[in-house]
Amino acid sequence: MSYFQRHIFFCLNERESGKSSCAQSGAQAGFDHCKSRVRDLGLAEVGGVRVNKAGCLHRCAGGPVAVVYPDAVWYTYVDNSDIDEIVERHLKNGQVVERLVLPDDVGL
Ligand code: FES
Repeated sequence: MSYFQRHIFFCLNERESGKSSCAQSGAQAGFDHCKSRVRDLGLAEVGGVRVNKAGCLHRCAGGPVAVVYPDAVWYTYVDNSDIDEIVERHLKNGQVVERLVLPDDVGL
């Protein structure tokens, strides 16, 4: 068994060049809310879910973005209700939230 069942990585990068970045699109708030929900649901235990910060994940055009491993599912989100759905359906129950999946062709 893996130490954690799933990791979710949130890009929190802020680009100094003035180009759009996840930090400008509410990434910190999304990360904080996810961390809180995972903790409140009792998922933040060994064998559960780890919520991690990340730098640029190279998919800035779809920001804010987060990726769930080992499933390798990429998400974009707008608000806390999107984060709640990712936590409840994917992180807790292993079901991909199709409506929030980042299209494969979204990159920089
Ligand atoms: S700034 Fe978030 S993916 Fe690049």
